[in-house]
Amino acid sequence: MTFHTDTLTAELSRAEEDFRRRTPQSADALTRASRVLPGGNTRSSLWTAPYPLSITGGEGCRITDADGHTYFDFLGEFTAGIYGHTCPSLEQAVTAAHRAGFGLSSHTPYEVALAEELAARFPSIDLLRFTNSGTEANLMALTAARLVTGRKRIVVFAGGYHGGVLTFGNGNAPVNVPFDFAVLPYNDAEAAAREFAASGDRIAAVLVEPMQGAGGCVVGSAEFLQTLRDLCDDSGAWLIFDEVQTARMAPGGAQERLGITPDMTTLGKIFGGGLAFGAFGGRQSVMARFDPAHPDPIPHAGTFNNNRLTMAAGLEAVRNHLTPEALAALYERGEAFRAALNERFAANGGAFHVTGMGSIMNIHGKGEDAALRLDRLRLLHFRMMERGYYFAARGLIALSFPVGETEMTGFLDALDAVLIAGR
Ligand SMILES: Cc1ncc(COP(=O)(O)O)c(C=O)c1O
Repeated sequence: MTFHTDTLTAELSRAEEDFRRRTPQSADALTRASRVLPGGNTRSSLWTAPYPLSITGGEGCRITDADGHTYFDFLGEFTAGIYGHTCPSLEQAVTAAHRAGFGLSSHTPYEVALAEELAARFPSIDLLRFTNSGTEANLMALTAARLVTGRKRIVVFAGGYHGGVLTFGNGNAPVNVPFDFAVLPYNDAEAAAREFAASGDRIAAVLVEPMQGAGGCVVGSAEFLQTLRDLCDDSGAWLIFDEVQTARMAPGGAQERLGITPDMTTLGKIFGGGLAFGAFGGRQSVMARFDPAHPDPIPHAGTFNNNRLTMAAGLEAVRNHLTPEALAALYERGEAFRAALNERFAANGGAFHVTGMGSIMNIHGKGEDAALRLDRLRLLHFRMMERGYYFAARGLIALSFPVGETEMTGFLDALDAVLIAGR
């Protein structure tokens, strides 16, 4: 096997054939799924050629596919699965909430307790509201900014991802909500300053990820993010940090590490303790309009906003899993793992490198040619799956709590074997 340009195409088709031979049940599962779901899919990001694995179960940090192969899961549900795939205390919390009654048609104590925990953690959050997804949280945050400032324009960044209808991987996607978006280059403080100089009085908000997750784990520089803070302060626009992925970097998220306080923060993924979750919050003055007793309130409905099972799981997760110590240890584990990966890649031909922050990172193929970079990554992905290590085909790795030293060492050894074979 080789990652060299001249033989890459042939190696890739061999790897794909091997994959098809190993995973016939996953192919069958897709055929069946395609009769009721378009392309067999209900979540576009899970699609990978020739077909994604059908995963039938999981335990700890392992998952099992329809053909009975087990993998160490280094993807962690695209960062949402920080607890691994089984967690007795979350199971208990959900079961207890279920037994005591769910769907109670009104307020319940769980949502208050979870809101208290989150408000105490995030420097930017005095008041918050729950939603059912990160997408919804971002939509509500942007809507609030537009209504309260009376302005229409939203600054976002190329490569940013804020949800299914807020996706900027290739500019402003046709599927996006029809807001007036200015899509600027990420980490380019001067471009942001130019936009504010030209249209500052029309900008309602800047929506930014402290690290672009789906964009390939590109870390925002402190200078860039501070410039955004200053530009918003000068112009009256809201700075919104999308911490749907980066919240795990510290108890108060990436904003705590950076020492930059946005006007509003959006959250998702891990705080639902495995169930569907989103939240947006900010200072008292920013969130005041969501008070239903406000003279001019912003309505925000949602049947499952305070779903009792989600609130119970989230509360258990925040109190007993997402502790400051556990988050710090996971962050350090991730930093060490990324450094080790980069060392191995450099020592074995330098066809890849890894970017990221803490426990979330992305492997990138190297080379001038984008198609070549992708092919290299696909080949690596196939060969690592064969050895029992699973991460996203696009290179994303998100460590979960159950991924320990043994699993990381195993991953590095498997990687060495794949890279040495590919020299
Ligand atoms: C940074 C970021 N924001 C928002 C979202 C959307 O969250 P959800 O998938 O819960 O709608 C995601 C999802 O991957 C994300 O990574």
